[in-house]
Amino acid sequence: MCGIVGYIGHREAYPIVLKGLKRLEYRGYDSTGVAIIQDGDLQVHKKKGKVVELEEAVVGKNMHSTICIGHTRWATHGEPSDRNAHPHLSNNGRLAMLHNGIIENYAQIKQELTNKGYTFKSDTDTEVLLNFIQDIQDNNKSTLEEALRIALKRIVGAYCILLIDQDDPETIIAARKGSPLVIGIGKGEHFLASDASPIIEYTKEVLGNEKQTPFIQKLDMELAAIEKGGYEHFMLKEIFEQPDTIFDCLRGRLLHEQQQIVMAGVDNHIEALTKASRILIVACGTSWHAGLVAEYMIEELCRIPVEVEYASEFRYRNPVIHAGDVIIAISQSGETADTLVALESAKEKGAFIFGVVNAVGSSIARLSHAGAYTHAGPEIGVASTKAFTGQLAVLTMMALKMAKAKGSISDERYSHLVNELASVPKKVKEILADTSKIESIAQQYKGASDFLYLGRGYNFPIALEGALKLKEITYIHAEGYPAAEMKHGPIALVDENLPVVFVATKDMYYDKVVSNIQEIKARKGQVIAVATLGDTVLPTMSDNIMFVPDIDEVIAPLLSVIPLQLLSYYVGTYKGIDVDKPRNLAKSVTVE
Ligand code: F6R
Repeated sequence: MCGIVGYIGHREAYPIVLKGLKRLEYRGYDSTGVAIIQDGDLQVHKKKGKVVELEEAVVGKNMHSTICIGHTRWATHGEPSDRNAHPHLSNNGRLAMLHNGIIENYAQIKQELTNKGYTFKSDTDTEVLLNFIQDIQDNNKSTLEEALRIALKRIVGAYCILLIDQDDPETIIAARKGSPLVIGIGKGEHFLASDASPIIEYTKEVLGNEKQTPFIQKLDMELAAIEKGGYEHFMLKEIFEQPDTIFDCLRGRLLHEQQQIVMAGVDNHIEALTKASRILIVACGTSWHAGLVAEYMIEELCRIPVEVEYASEFRYRNPVIHAGDVIIAISQSGETADTLVALESAKEKGAFIFGVVNAVGSSIARLSHAGAYTHAGPEIGVASTKAFTGQLAVLTMMALKMAKAKGSISDERYSHLVNELASVPKKVKEILADTSKIESIAQQYKGASDFLYLGRGYNFPIALEGALKLKEITYIHAEGYPAAEMKHGPIALVDENLPVVFVATKDMYYDKVVSNIQEIKARKGQVIAVATLGDTVLPTMSDNIMFVPDIDEVIAPLLSVIPLQLLSYYVGTYKGIDVDKPRNLAKSVTVE
């Protein structure tokens, strides 16, 4: 999704902005651009493609300036192209602006401006807003800031914009609504960016802007956390970080020795959570899959009905929400527009929002009444991996805590699950210790055109997640299904060319899943199984097998997803795909 970087101060601004744009590349984008002011001259350079292509295009040009704004664009209005890239220039050539978000009523404003004689070089909503600002400034003889304020009153939609005026090289004007912006404060200099990653190497002081009165807060992030640390891709680094990120997530919360779980967000609202007549879980994509696992856990352990909703559908189908309804919102970025707007409307109707979020201080975290961070650290690879296991770890602790408070779990079962959860980091490490088998499976099937992923119970959402990971970073069509549902349709696809991945660890459905595997083998399908270490049955009927250590079925998703992440990673890299930035995808989906 679009990324924004700005710098104003006493240093060379362009190199800082360029480096920042590279740090934001993980969000996904299709074109890029910068604007600087030199001796009253406003210069804009922009290009379709990667940041490095822009960098090459400006080699030899005089880029000296102490003010610069830059942008990575993810197309919404108009195809990816040089002319649609940001920043845009106003008709009078004096203002340059870039924008993240969508102006929903741009068409009407464009018509009004066209009637007044304005022309447009791009297809973007951004250029419309910019000329609207120019028009107000010219007609009202107002300052740029005033003109912007007036313009924004008319705007429907979400935005974060940076605006500069060639006559005022001392000022960057920023405005945001529903789209993220971090403002870093240095000594006589300011840094602006869509997230903290372009800023942390210069300052850790950032402006908290969720209140009317701005205040300074400290960033809890290290530069090393957003660099690759010797791995070929961020995705691989993030998969291998999981023993540590899960450990960090459990640390200080899962007090193994005392058999206690401490989570302030849950403790402080335990009544609201355990007395809920139902719980709604709202999320998108991988986070939605974590929600499905939570549904199984909360219903089994807490005996509270749970509904898991795609945020985009939930918001617009006018859902029935009562005051006091509990909504668990799950999001890595905390900025997903579909989730955010769904929560805003539920909050207005009086729902209690509990956020399970990775990005500290993000919009969803701020909107929630209470919550628990996943503490997975910055996730840069577009495909979510460590954030997913972080979400599962938080949701498992929540379910156990609520069950204990409600008295719906026996002491033995509680204690067993606490012990099992505590063993996860070590067991994930065991899976990661040898990836050679998974690499060879990936090599064998990298030419397949379709995959089917099947699982039951707690492993059903993991089948969905495995299929999503494969689609995202290998461009191979994959579908996830409940294993038993396969015979109601997808079985028609099975022939000797179809790889079928079974998530078939030892659980209450194991025997039934074994029967499903036989049904696939009888039709000559290629079976790849995720199985429990020590299983002697599945190796006799599968073409390939990936083992995970034995663990209780409630906790099993935390392990069974790991080989599937790796399988997708290796297939993607064997196919030569940029797995950190697969085509068309954005890390942080900040448009509805
Ligand atoms: C999948 C993926 C997406 C996100 C989805 C929600 O690998 O990354 O499906 O899970 O866009 O994003 P968050 O969790 O940031 O709300």
